[in-house]
Amino acid sequence: MKVTVVGAGYVGLVTSVCLAELGHLVTCIDIQQEKIDLLQSGQCLFHEPGLEALLEKNLNEKRLSFTSNPHDAYSKKDIIFIAVGTQEKHDGSVDPKYLYVVAHTIAHYIEQDVIVCTKSTVPVGTNEIIQQIIDSRKPPNLQVEVVANPDFLREGSAIIDFFHGDRIVIGTSNPKVAAILNELYLPLQIPIFKTDIRSAEMIKYAFNAFLATKMSFLNEMARICENVGANIEEVAYGIGHNKKIGYDSRFPMETKTLAQLSSLLNEPLPLLEAVIQVNNR
Ligand SMILES: NC(=O)c1ccc[n+]([C@@H]2O[C@H](COP(=O)([O-])OP(=O)(O)OC[C@H]3O[C@@H](n4cnc5c(N)ncnc54)[C@H](O)[C@@H]3O)[C@@H](O)[C@H]2O)c1
Repeated sequence: MKVTVVGAGYVGLVTSVCLAELGHLVTCIDIQQEKIDLLQSGQCLFHEPGLEALLEKNLNEKRLSFTSNPHDAYSKKDIIFIAVGTQEKHDGSVDPKYLYVVAHTIAHYIEQDVIVCTKSTVPVGTNEIIQQIIDSRKPPNLQVEVVANPDFLREGSAIIDFFHGDRIVIGTSNPKVAAILNELYLPLQIPIFKTDIRSAEMIKYAFNAFLATKMSFLNEMARICENVGANIEEVAYGIGHNKKIGYDSRFPMETKTLAQLSSLLNEPLPLLEAVIQVNNR
C-alpha cells in the first residue's frame, strides 16, 4: 500500500521504518527540513535499538523516503498516519492543535480517496473534529475516513513493540476501512481489536492512567523502601518483572487530561486524583 506518515518524531519515524519493512511504500513528511535531510541520508536522530539498520535497509530498497513537500506526501496515498506531537495547555492537559493543522493540509492536497489514521495520543472527540475539518475543506468528490489508531510503543523497545505488540486498536465504524487496515497490519500476526472511534481514543488514556496508577503504588512503596533500607528497583522487579513499570514523562499530561474531562463531565475520579497527587509528590 502507499502510505504517508506525518511527523518524523519518535512515533512517526518508528512507524515509517517498520511499515516499510512490512513491504509498504512509505513517505514520511515533517516540517523540519533539517530532520528530513538527515533521515534521507540514513542518519537517525535518536537512539532506538534496531532502528538505524532498518532505516538504512528500507532507504536502500526504495520503500522509504522523507520529504517536506505536502503535495508529494498527500496527493496519491491509500493511508495517511498522523504522528505529530501534541502541546501541553496551561492546565497541563493535551492540546491537539497541531493535528488540526495537519487535517487542513491533508484536505488541501489529497487527490484520491484516503484513510487518515491518528497515531498521536489525543483527547476523546479529537478524531471527529479532524474528520469535520477535512470534510469541510476537501474536494467534494473524494472520500476521507478518519480512524483512531493509538500507538503503544515504548521508547527503548519500539521496534520489538511494533513487530510483537500485544494488540492493535482500530477505532472506526466503517467495516470496509477496518478491513483495509486489517490487511495493512496482517503480516504482523498481532491481534487486532476493532472498536468505535471514541472507545479507541479512550483506550489509550485509560491504559496510561492504569500504568500511572501502578506507578503511584510504586512511588508509595519507594518512600517506605527508603525508610527501611530496601531498594525500590529490586522490589519493583520482584513484584512483576513488568517492563511497563517505569517512569514516563507523558503520563502527567494524559492523566491531567483525564482529570480535566472528569471535572467537565462532573464525574469525579478520586482514584485518579490520588494517583496524580502521589506521583507529583
Ligand atoms: N514517544 C512515545 O513514546 C509515544 C508513545 C506513544 C504515543 N505517543 C504519542 O505520539 C505523538 C507523537 O509523539 P512523538 O514523541 O513522536 O513526538 P515528537 O515531538 O518527537 O515528533 C513530532 C514531529 O511532528 C512534526 N510535525 C509537527 N507538525 C507537523 C506538521 N504539520 N506536518 C508534518 N510534521 C509535523 C515535528 O516537526 C516533529 O518532528 C504524541 O501525541 C504522543 O503522545 C508517543
